[in-house]
Amino acid sequence: MKVLVVGSGGREHALAWSISQSPSLTELHAAPGNPGIAELAHCHPVRADDAASLAAELRVDLVVVGPEGPLVAGLADELRHRGLAVFGPSAAAARIEGSKAFAKDVMDAAGVANARTLAAAEPPCVVKADGLAAGKGVWVCHTQSELDEALAAVSPPFHVEELLEGPELSLFAVAAGEQACAFPAARDYKRIGDGDAGPNTGGMGSFSPLPDVADDEADEILDTVHRPVLRELAKRGMPFQGLLYAGLMRTPDGLRVIEFNCRFGDPETQSLLPRLETDLLPILAGGPAPIGVSAGAAVTVVLAGRGYPERGDIGTPIEGVADATATGAHVFHAGTALHDGRLVTNGGRVLNVVGTGDTVEVARTAAYRAVDRIHFGGMQFRRDIANG
Ligand code: AMP
Ligand code: GLY
Repeated sequence: MKVLVVGSGGREHALAWSISQSPSLTELHAAPGNPGIAELAHCHPVRADDAASLAAELRVDLVVVGPEGPLVAGLADELRHRGLAVFGPSAAAARIEGSKAFAKDVMDAAGVANARTLAAAEPPCVVKADGLAAGKGVWVCHTQSELDEALAAVSPPFHVEELLEGPELSLFAVAAGEQACAFPAARDYKRIGDGDAGPNTGGMGSFSPLPDVADDEADEILDTVHRPVLRELAKRGMPFQGLLYAGLMRTPDGLRVIEFNCRFGDPETQSLLPRLETDLLPILAGGPAPIGVSAGAAVTVVLAGRGYPERGDIGTPIEGVADATATGAHVFHAGTALHDGRLVTNGGRVLNVVGTGDTVEVARTAAYRAVDRIHFGGMQFRRDIANG
């Protein structure tokens, strides 16, 4: 099977790595990819949004779309229109991520518990930009001054909802219409600083499995969260095909959905795929089937560049990736480039270091041992990933 992966981050590197191990794979392509992906695939300097023509030219058997932007913009529709197979939802179904108001309407119609919408913006509350915001369109406001800042920063239309509290978990399901099967739960660390201090980011680390989510609870979440939403989307004539990501919070009143995404999560995917024992490619190509994972664990530490999350960093030389890989860890590239043959930073989140092991403890130790081998000017990372 000839496959094209669309995207250029750590999630896409992890997807390319997992797909590259499939016995069914004959050729792997990426658009645009990155220097890490280039070790596994032919990278084409094409923007994700222009990937449909490339896929047609290459006559690939499957296109796997990583990021939400091209999906919300209709890339999967364009590919299907050209007769190409794609893992990723239509623009209509991708609105489950692309519009907070649409997601809320679908959840309410499907009877899925989520945060209550508030008529008035008063603290405590959460302010959310309606459209895509790369993880940065959410303001959690405990005080009036936080709310004032949020209201000054958010561009309309926006949405105000109750502030929920409790541990978060991400549950991914491969879905086709009303059929779905789940990956194990994972946890993402959204704040820049240790102890969840500082602003939200695209994600500073992740791990799986979660000690507080048993397998039978994951099945229950699939039944009470994903399946009702899939049925509601199908009923509205927009069946979902691809990866349905539920971000949940365990509140004192039970589990509540915080958000749906229409694609694999970043950086949770980097902690899930190294645990897979099932060949990923037939599931991406053929739809839901039981997903087998190892009993072991994986921990991902994101290495971000100077100035993140306010801005990205470009052109700072990176040292030690080969040494880190030699420890047995996976090093997925997220924002890197090659300048005159030298690896340099090219974005906010630069590298994802994944340690694996029999337990979360062992995996965490392995991840941080590998992190210690990597250096670049301004490198920032959290030291408390998977630490309770
Ligand atoms: P989102 O972009 O919707 O995933 O939101 C980003 C982060 O903001 C979530 O992972 C939560 O940590 C936080 N958040 C979102 N909605 C709420 C809410 N209703 N109550 C508390 N925190 C929230
Ligand atoms: N891990 C958060 C996201 O992918 O949106």
